[in-house]
Amino acid sequence: MRILSGIQPSGVGHLGNYLGAIRQWVSAQDADAYYAVVDLHSLTLDIPPDRLRVQTLDTLAILVAAGLDPEQCTLFIQSHVPYHAQLNWLLECVASYGELTRMTQFKEKSGRQEGYRVGLLTYPVLMAADILLYRAEQVPVGDDQRQHLELARNIAERFNNRYGEVFTVPEAVAPPFAARVMDLQDPSRKMSKSLNSPLGTIYVLDEPDEIVRKVKKAVTDTDGEVRYDRDDKPGLSNLLEILASLSDEAPESVAARYQRYGDLKSDVAEAVVGALEPLRLRFLDIREDETLLRQVATRGADKAVATAEPLYRAAAEAMGL
Ligand code: AMP
Ligand code: TRP
Repeated sequence: MRILSGIQPSGVGHLGNYLGAIRQWVSAQDADAYYAVVDLHSLTLDIPPDRLRVQTLDTLAILVAAGLDPEQCTLFIQSHVPYHAQLNWLLECVASYGELTRMTQFKEKSGRQEGYRVGLLTYPVLMAADILLYRAEQVPVGDDQRQHLELARNIAERFNNRYGEVFTVPEAVAPPFAARVMDLQDPSRKMSKSLNSPLGTIYVLDEPDEIVRKVKKAVTDTDGEVRYDRDDKPGLSNLLEILASLSDEAPESVAARYQRYGDLKSDVAEAVVGALEPLRLRFLDIREDETLLRQVATRGADKAVATAEPLYRAAAEAMGL
């Protein structure tokens, strides 16, 4: 089974990235898995070049610290493989303007910025290129990426119909719970790298006391009943999902064990610290050895190029280049 996924180096990863994506990546890494730090995608945002460079290596180190083994899976940096940007252009000539302007994420993000970059509109095409270049069958992602996956499927099918069978049509795989971890301060919006909500976001490199403080301050409600109900009790249900995900059970059965919000919060904090503290400590070790990280990236890029190149050539040839 061929698997591919990606994460942007736009900032330190958070608990949503960890539960929605990275944890799934680790458990799927013994399949034929490709995981990319998608630095080209981060150019859609305003990040100083030096910061982007640092964050790209930080993100790579976080993935290794989370348990991805470069011996088992192919771990690479997107811009090291030139075929992503090249296939992107070919696919921009397959995707339509209308389908890109319909993307929810584009509508949200473009509404927040004046003079946004064209890349913000076309970015799902680059994401389709990331996936299709590797003939990925499954793409482990959080819920927010489902619509982009649907677009990648449409682009693959349209290309195959128009130019001949080149691409595999991919499928999204989201975890059963915590596929959409919400901001702890505003449970109506997802936890995110790009929104500035320090108290509402648990970063994977937060120290234990910060995690405890953020969970204790998480916004809930005042009716005092511990019950899983995402519509009526979004804050509490978010905490239940986090704990459910970390203990591999259903949020309803987690809810049945608690009478008091305070007890639930203590256990959520403990479970999150238990998952993230080993990651943080390993990160501190791994991040120090930049030579080793660069070796991981070089090796990953070599493997990725070997897979992507023939696919790119087949697509270019099919289109008449
Ligand atoms: P990004 O940080 O946008 O590069 O996302 C990397 C991965 O994390 C993608 O698979 C996203 O779907 C996933 N992800 C991002 N935010 C969340 C969230 N709040 N809850 C669950 N998954 C998320
Ligand atoms: N767009 C994804 C996000 O913001 C990241 C991403 C880029 C990705 N390319 C991908 C995810 C390919 C899965 C497969 O979360």
